[in-house]
Amino acid sequence: MEKYVINGGTPLRGPVDISGMKNAACPIIFASLLTGSVCVIENLPAINDVALSLEIMQSIGCRVRMLAKDTVEIDSRDAEGGSSPFDLVRKMRSSYYLLGAELGRYGRACVGYPGGCDFGVRPIDQHIKGFEALGAEVSVDSGCVVAEAKYGLRGSSVYFDMVTVGGTINVILAAVLAKGMTVIENAAREPHIVDVANFLNTCGARITGAGTDTIRVRGVEKLRGCTYAIIPDMIEAGTFMIAAAATGGAMVVRNVIPKHLESITAKLEEMGVIVEEYDDYVYVTRSGDLNRINIKTLPYPGFPTDMQPQMCVLLCQANGVSFLTESIFENRFKYVEELRLMGASIIVDGRTAIIEGGTTLQAAPVRAMDLRAGAAMVIAGLCCKGRTEIDEIFHIERGYDNLVGKLTAVGADIRKIVIPDSVEYGTAN
Ligand code: EPU
Repeated sequence: MEKYVINGGTPLRGPVDISGMKNAACPIIFASLLTGSVCVIENLPAINDVALSLEIMQSIGCRVRMLAKDTVEIDSRDAEGGSSPFDLVRKMRSSYYLLGAELGRYGRACVGYPGGCDFGVRPIDQHIKGFEALGAEVSVDSGCVVAEAKYGLRGSSVYFDMVTVGGTINVILAAVLAKGMTVIENAAREPHIVDVANFLNTCGARITGAGTDTIRVRGVEKLRGCTYAIIPDMIEAGTFMIAAAATGGAMVVRNVIPKHLESITAKLEEMGVIVEEYDDYVYVTRSGDLNRINIKTLPYPGFPTDMQPQMCVLLCQANGVSFLTESIFENRFKYVEELRLMGASIIVDGRTAIIEGGTTLQAAPVRAMDLRAGAAMVIAGLCCKGRTEIDEIFHIERGYDNLVGKLTAVGADIRKIVIPDSVEYGTAN
């Protein structure tokens, strides 16, 4: 078992370089299958979800070669659909992109039901509705999603009942090689949707409107390989921005697209944090007290649900009571119990966390309940004095590239330790 051990209380100071975005990298890796060719993908984050995505691609016959630490070559010429191992795809959410990619390339897909962070029910009915609109028959059988377009995929209109990132990308993947035009309405507008569309367009696809709520995909006969660099991860950037503010430090968060950070920056400024924007970096510092504020998570360009737990830790330090409302996922407050162990005063009422600020967090042994909740525990550990131990860090390492190294470089005292199983279960003697 691995843990993080943090001796907190030191303000973080200095520069940090943000890696490529997890939620763009994974779909782009799966999207490369559509090319049946060789793609080189740059600025890949070194995270477990990327490693797993590449392993899944290898398992279906792609040749995968790391050209540098952050650059991979994927040759999907000899890949075969329908052969991805259940145990691999169930370990992550993004594996659902293999459905759209296999369906688009072979007219048939068979992929295990995806896993991912547990925020309650996470249905994929909208993905399925989109595939069906394009002419596929879809069934879910023994934990496996099977989609087949017996007469080929045909462009169509797809209206999503809610804004879904995964659904939007998956329908784009299925539509790029379909006959005719697909129009996706009520599409998600996240920067990673634009990145996936840009990647596919570089490969010869004809997608317009990505970044708006109406996306048009004109099917093409064939795609070609390309070289493409992933955009920076706005959630990793936001996590460091909050870590700087929470520890009362001053950080230069580099290799970002400040426009993608607007909602995070706006909320930090409302709290009294100073955020200066430059071309590809932001400078974040905090000199005084923090104001209480209210936040509601929303699809982009609203405040991201993936920043909600980290922001909760910062609100614990504000003057007064803040309301933090989660409107994307039904159950994303499980980590609050862990923060309470550290002394936080938070009541969860339905989808709103009522956070009483001004409580001094105390070091404690806690768990990373999921990826972003784990990041929140790290921030909490960094801003309280004493030794915090965080368990189940595999969640964190699914999505943060070299978190320990990057934090250590800006002055944090954080280590990863490995506890032998014999010690864990008390059977050493
Ligand atoms: N939804 C449905 N039916 C569907 C699809 C979605 O009811 O067919 C609901 C979901 O249950 C949720 C809402 O619609 O209530 C939005 O879900 P969405 O499809 O946008 O989320 P996702 O694709 O499952 C991705 C990211 C999440 C991120 C959300 C929202 C990946 C692999 N995951 O999830 O990232 O929170 O979009 O931005 O891209 C993370 O990185 O920590 C993470 C959880």
